[in-house]
Amino acid sequence: MAYDSHEIRHLPESSCTTKTELGLLRFMTCGSVDDGKSTFIGRLLWDSKLVFDDQLTTLESESKRVGTQHGDIDYALLVDGLQAEREQGITIDVAYRFFSTDKRKFIVADTPGHEQYTRNMATGASTVDVAVLMIDARKGVLTQTKRHSYILSLLGVKHIVLAVNKMDLVDYSEEQFDSIQFEYASFRVSLGFENVVAIPISALKGDNLLHPSDAMSWYQGPTIMNYLETVTINQDVTAKPFRLPVQWVNRPHLDFRGFSGTIVSGTVSPGDSVVVPSSGKTSTVERIVTFDGDLERGVAGQAVTVTLTDEIDVSRGEVLSDPRARPDFADQFEAKLIWMHEEPLLPGRHYLIKIGFQTRTAQVSALKYKVNINTLEHLATKTLELNEVGVCNFSLDHPVSFDAYQDNRDTGSFILIDRYTNGTIAAGMIDFTLRRAHNIHWQSVDIHKAARANLKRQKPFILWFTGLSGAGKSSIANLVEKKLHSLGHHTYLLDGDNVRHGLNRDLGFTDADRVENIRRVAETAKLMVDAGLIVLVSFISPFRSERQMARFMVENEEFLEVFIDTPLEVCEQRDVKGLYKKARAGEVKNFTGIDSPYERPEHAEVIIDGSKDTPEQAALTIFHELDRKRLLSSD
Ligand code: ADX
Repeated sequence: MAYDSHEIRHLPESSCTTKTELGLLRFMTCGSVDDGKSTFIGRLLWDSKLVFDDQLTTLESESKRVGTQHGDIDYALLVDGLQAEREQGITIDVAYRFFSTDKRKFIVADTPGHEQYTRNMATGASTVDVAVLMIDARKGVLTQTKRHSYILSLLGVKHIVLAVNKMDLVDYSEEQFDSIQFEYASFRVSLGFENVVAIPISALKGDNLLHPSDAMSWYQGPTIMNYLETVTINQDVTAKPFRLPVQWVNRPHLDFRGFSGTIVSGTVSPGDSVVVPSSGKTSTVERIVTFDGDLERGVAGQAVTVTLTDEIDVSRGEVLSDPRARPDFADQFEAKLIWMHEEPLLPGRHYLIKIGFQTRTAQVSALKYKVNINTLEHLATKTLELNEVGVCNFSLDHPVSFDAYQDNRDTGSFILIDRYTNGTIAAGMIDFTLRRAHNIHWQSVDIHKAARANLKRQKPFILWFTGLSGAGKSSIANLVEKKLHSLGHHTYLLDGDNVRHGLNRDLGFTDADRVENIRRVAETAKLMVDAGLIVLVSFISPFRSERQMARFMVENEEFLEVFIDTPLEVCEQRDVKGLYKKARAGEVKNFTGIDSPYERPEHAEVIIDGSKDTPEQAALTIFHELDRKRLLSSD
């Protein structure tokens, strides 16, 4: 994601010393495009005299030239530099501005109000303490307000300012303000905010931004700035259990081994004991090293290198933690997911998950429901589309250390990454560990794959046939199995059409179902390899991702991808089952090659041109490859 920052400085550094007590406040504004967000921030900065002289001159002349206020100052123009860039097609998801007053330092995240709201809001909201929710006094609480509120609650924002704006346009009516406040109060109940303060304002006129409004003497509460300067944030991360996600192991020479990273919560001092969650090993902190010398106490937010008194294993990604309040260490959990990509979520597909510096492979093992973020209704679904929010069970290939998001926003959040594009596709917040992760263990057995295979005098492996329907996969696979059988090998052929009559009879041909189809058959093939068999799998298996998943389930030399590369025209002409005809007539939906994609393999071990080679020739080519790889010899 692209970030931009506009720094608006105004105070000499020395005056910052008094500001530390309350700490930095991160806040964001949200609302729809014409609720006056830009005017609000612009006016706040203006009234706080946080604008440079040259900006002021530009603002005056720009207001005359393009302003919307009939030549008067258009405060929105102060923040519209970004808008212009956006219009030029430059992607700016969230802009951060830094400013400070006599009392406090601030970072304000400004998120654009266009349709990409969820993604951008989520990016901004995951770091803020307070959100200023703009409401147009004339319109009241809108669907949009509810949607924004839900996302804020999802991201753990606890303090909400309901800025009821444009009060000047409703004659500064107390009744109007009260009814909005009342309506919001009934809606917020389920959202878990710690406090909500409603403030009637006019961003344009400056009412109740910095100074109490003369026009609204009925209002006795704080002004916006008043509130922002004094609100105490009890999400005090230093009071939480110690967590140091290890970014790298610092080993400049043999006598020094330190663990470097930023403390995300709690404090640490020499003499404290710490635990490595993956092994459960504990040790004692020896030194806390920084560029400016050793510390007596490291606190959340500081980048440090910690050394320990014992030589215990700690690698990148581990979370050094307080042993009295350990993070969870598990491979299954429930989480809320905000989907951020045009391509929908496919349960069962393998994605990369990044929690702190830990990267694993993960799949959504169950998509429990999605949330209609306008009504908060729970809806059954098989997928999540761009900007949708869902609750899912996750299953990872290896355990990770984490906390629940509500306990720790840093160690409880993650992103999902597409394995091919490396792009971020979702953001997640962990709810809790699934109990089954603790209760299901691996049962150790005494007879292993090698022993079973030895008895059969063969090397087990998977021959994975992929290609369009009618490409010839099954005929070729059948011939290959016959030949293997005649040579005395123990085999099994898993064929798409057949498996779909039994194990997978509940699945259709949507992308989501095909992913699940392949996941199940890959797991089955893996078990069969474990049983010592040579397994032939003949499925269209149209997606690279799932074919790769199957490949990674077994050992390197145990998987051969055979691409039956028969052009669509040839398959369609053969049309053995008459399905292409039906698909063209619209009687069969989601047909591979017609209205459902096929992703060609990039690194298949064997490629057969199904339009030229007969099945017999193809089988020979495959055997040639098996010989070359010495897969049929038992030594
Ligand atoms: S896969 O895409 O999920 O791997 P699979 O190999 O199990 O597909 O099943 C493909 C077979 O199902 C085809 O050979 C064809 O006989 C039949 N079929 C029925 N409907 C479709 C469809 N919409 N797309 C592709 N194949 C279909």
